[in-house]
Amino acid sequence: MKQAWKQDSNPALSDSQLIELSDKIAQSAKYKQLCKATILDIVRKEARRAGTKAELEGRVREKLHRVAALYLEKQRSAKLKKLLLEVSESGDSVLIEKACREILATHASTAERLGELEQTYQKLWKITGVPASILDLAAAFHPFGFRWMGLDPAKTKYFAYDINADFVELLRSYFELDKLNAKAIFRDVLVDPPQESADVAFFLKMYHCLENREAGSVLPWLEKLNVDHIIISLPRASLGKSERSVGLRYIEELRQYATLRGLPLSEEFSPDEHFLVLKLANKHS
Ligand SMILES: C[S@@+](CC[C@H](N)C(=O)[O-])C[C@H]1O[C@@H](n2cnc3c(N)ncnc32)[C@H](O)[C@@H]1O
Repeated sequence: MKQAWKQDSNPALSDSQLIELSDKIAQSAKYKQLCKATILDIVRKEARRAGTKAELEGRVREKLHRVAALYLEKQRSAKLKKLLLEVSESGDSVLIEKACREILATHASTAERLGELEQTYQKLWKITGVPASILDLAAAFHPFGFRWMGLDPAKTKYFAYDINADFVELLRSYFELDKLNAKAIFRDVLVDPPQESADVAFFLKMYHCLENREAGSVLPWLEKLNVDHIIISLPRASLGKSERSVGLRYIEELRQYATLRGLPLSEEFSPDEHFLVLKLANKHS
């Protein structure tokens, strides 16, 4: 593995220098809750493009700021943790539901989905069948919508992955509180694709983010997943004009990918989201 990146990387910087830089950034206040594998991956990839160590650090910080900083505010997580603790002590189902909606509303991706939460999942399960196991890739707060998914909490296996340690901790508290058969995993899904198999994987509002991090990374990565269906979505409402045309390019890319591989692709819309459901043949048996 090391060999592969070394060939491409800047020969002026050794592996241990790259690890050192990655550790330095990981210890900074801004990135301390971010998965170390994400930082090291970005350092290694940017090392191929940078001439000097200083230039590399600048490039890495700029990229990290674009791909991760937006999700790393400490204050929000602390407030939500307190809210979860309060409703957990009350044990009141109405309050738990209210808190889940409140948490969903604090993140742009899930806030946009709130209007048609139940209907959206019903439409998706019509395509995939009601799943008994789910991988939620780059989940953020999406699992807080579990109560609206129409799934059996004890029987549905749910794995949620995120690179933000605070989000993972919040998800763990929620899974425990609602007694879900679920695990929140602190992992960069691009660097370490999940090995767990499942009926359905959610990859919601992330396609453009991963492509922004590393162009051309998503399609080869899809092949590594052990799932029957992958539900990919692109935001409709929150994108600016130029982002919207990039979104359309990814949609076209996915359609061509499905055609070339002979994989069934269904499309579904909500007012704010364009879903593409790809059936990955013979993946999960
Ligand atoms: C745009 S939000 C997506 C939210 C969620 N999928 C949804 O639509 O409700 C991005 C989330 O993905 C996480 N993330 C970004 N890159 C990731 C990666 N490579 N592996 C795992 N999580 C990632 C971020 O920490 C953040 O919580």
